[in-house]
Amino acid sequence: MLLFIAVLLALSCPAGRSEVVKNFNTCSEFFFKRQAPVIPGILDPNSEHPRYKKICQRYNFTGDGSGYRYATLYDTESRIPVFSAYNYTGKGDFTRPSIPWMIEPKLDPRVDGMTAPYNNQAVDEDYINNSYGVNRGHLFPSCHAADESTAKSTFTLTNIVPQNIRFNAGSWNRIENETRDSMNTLCYNKNNKVLAHVLTGAIPGKNKINNRVNIPSYMWTAFCCYNRSKIWVSEAYWAPNRQENHNEPISKMTLQQLQEFLNGSWAQNVTLFKNDCN
Ligand SMILES: *[C@@H]1O[C@H](CO)[C@@H](O)[C@H](O)[C@H]1NC(C)=O
Ligand SMILES: *[C@@H]1O[C@H](CO)[C@@H](O)[C@H](O)[C@H]1NC(C)=O
Ligand SMILES: *[C@@H]1O[C@H](CO)[C@@H](O)[C@H](O)[C@H]1NC(C)=O
Ligand SMILES: *[C@@H]1O[C@H](CO)[C@@H](O)[C@H](O)[C@H]1NC(C)=O
Ligand SMILES: *[C@@H]1O[C@H](CO)[C@@H](O)[C@H](O)[C@H]1NC(C)=O
Ligand SMILES: *[C@@H]1O[C@H](CO)[C@@H](O)[C@H](O)[C@H]1NC(C)=O
Ligand SMILES: *[C@@H]1O[C@H](CO)[C@@H](O)[C@H](O)[C@H]1NC(C)=O
Repeated sequence: MLLFIAVLLALSCPAGRSEVVKNFNTCSEFFFKRQAPVIPGILDPNSEHPRYKKICQRYNFTGDGSGYRYATLYDTESRIPVFSAYNYTGKGDFTRPSIPWMIEPKLDPRVDGMTAPYNNQAVDEDYINNSYGVNRGHLFPSCHAADESTAKSTFTLTNIVPQNIRFNAGSWNRIENETRDSMNTLCYNKNNKVLAHVLTGAIPGKNKINNRVNIPSYMWTAFCCYNRSKIWVSEAYWAPNRQENHNEPISKMTLQQLQEFLNGSWAQNVTLFKNDCN
């Protein structure tokens, strides 16, 4: 019943459906130099990995332009996103929206008119009453959105991972604040408008909620932008997805350090931004 309600709520959301695409070229505007990251075995320019689905996220599409809000690579086995990629252009003037969580119907197409069993994604019910002390953590946080519709578009479970409740509201929220302040200060495009390309991701861990949805071991984030001296700059952070430890503050790292960390603990030879943001 809960599942049914969740799905009904999800389906009753405003028009403007996202698209599951063959290639991130469809919404390349969210990537530095219009190039998606290279993550060998997970996201390669020239080969398909059926487990990982590329989503051009859309919400409240009015028919003007492409209507894409950000891009997500989604792991249909772990049922969590690998990363979400977005343009940060300054936080808009809105308060945190309160809307029902959405799902992505295109990840579980209907077969013979039957409702899909949601094998390929997390649903609301997965997150309810779990014994792991986790709740829904955004990759693209609504507090980095340029306007209210974009903020609402982040409330889809394809942009969400199970995050330790204290970490979500604590250290990781602090990092979201810090990167936002940093980008507001540093990142200006040629027209002197705030602009940064951001990638935020999760490394799958060992446990699952509801025996379905992976609880990531780590969260990571990096941005790449042009600074006021017209030089490409980047910053990165990562942190374990567990209750914060005040003795181990999370420090700002370089893009190289993040890629080395990912190489050691997740995927080898990752290139997050073309030419390492140079
Ligand atoms: C994102 O940034 C690129 C510049 O790299 C720009 O061309 C594009 O219009 C931006 N898209 C959105 C939706 O902000
Ligand atoms: C929540 O989970 C606990 C055990 O983890 C169980 O005893 C309880 O009945 C569950 N509550 C609901 C509303 O499902
Ligand atoms: C959809 O966009 C229109 C115009 O951009 C705006 O007026 C409206 O409030 C938006 N609706 C939602 C549900 O965000
Ligand atoms: C992050 O910033 C918001 C205001 O933008 C503030 O309400 C919140 O407490 C900050 N979070 C942390 C962990 O400091
Ligand atoms: C831009 O970045 C370069 C390289 O890190 C740095 O030397 C320069 O001071 C920065 N300019 C501004 C205005 O922050
Ligand atoms: C990544 O790790 C592999 C194996 O541990 C190593 O061969 C490779 O040089 C590493 N690459 C980078 C960029 O650190
Ligand atoms: C990573 O790069 C190293 C050195 O170029 C190579 O030996 C290794 O096979 C690569 N690993 C993957 C997973 O592509």
